[in-house]
Amino acid sequence: MLNIALPKGRLGDQVYALFSRIGCDCGALYGDDRRLVLESPENGVRYLLVKPSDVAIYVEYGAADIGVVGKDILLDSNPDVYELLDLGIGRCRICVAGPEDYVEDRERVLRVATKFQTVANNYYSSRNREIQIIRLNGSIELAPILGLTDVIVDIVESGRTLRENHLKVLETIVPVSARLIANRASYLFKNELITGITAKLQEVLPQ
Ligand code: PRP
Repeated sequence: MLNIALPKGRLGDQVYALFSRIGCDCGALYGDDRRLVLESPENGVRYLLVKPSDVAIYVEYGAADIGVVGKDILLDSNPDVYELLDLGIGRCRICVAGPEDYVEDRERVLRVATKFQTVANNYYSSRNREIQIIRLNGSIELAPILGLTDVIVDIVESGRTLRENHLKVLETIVPVSARLIANRASYLFKNELITGITAKLQEVLPQ
C-alpha cells in the first residue's frame, strides 16, 4: 500500500480530482465523509486526509510515502523531502499587503503579521529591513485593519479578501502552487510505485 497524504479544505477537491483522473479514485474522498483514512485496495493506495500545513510533516517522518502540499508551506518549513512535481493547481502568490492608503515609515521597525515567518524573515532580511513579526494562524488581514501591525505577508489568490477589507498588494514575494512530495526512504524502497504515480499525474496536469 502506498500512503498518500492529501490536504483537506480549499485545495482538496482539485487534488482528489487529479488522483481520480489517473484511476486512483476513491468515492469517499467527496461528500460528507468524516473518515481520515480512506483505502482504495484495488488501486493499492491509502489516503490520509490532513490539515494542509501538516502534509509535509506526515511525509517527512514517513507516516505518508507521498503527499500534496502548497509550495508556500514548503518554503516556510523547509522539510527534508523530495519535491517531485509542480501540479499546477492551487496557484496563488505570497504577498506583502497593507491598507489602501499605506505609506511606509522607514525610520520605524516594520510590524508584520503572518503565518509565514521564514518567508517573511528571509524577504525582509534580503532587503535589510528590520521587522517585528506577529505570528497569526488565520484571518491575517485583520491585523493592519486593527492597527496590530503595519502590513501582512500572506497568500493572495483572487485578491477578493484584500479588496473587501480595503487592503491592497504592496509587493509580490513569490508565486506558489501545489507540489507532489515524497519521503526520502519511500522514494528509494517504493520507487516503482511512486515514479508510476508521478508519471501518470504529469500526463493529466492542467496546462
Ligand atoms: C487565505 C489567505 C487569505 C485568502 C486569500 O486564507 O490567508 O485570507 O485565502 O484568498 P483570496 O485572495 O482569493 O481572497 P484561508 O481561506 O486559507 O483562511 P485563513 O484566513 O484561515 O488562513
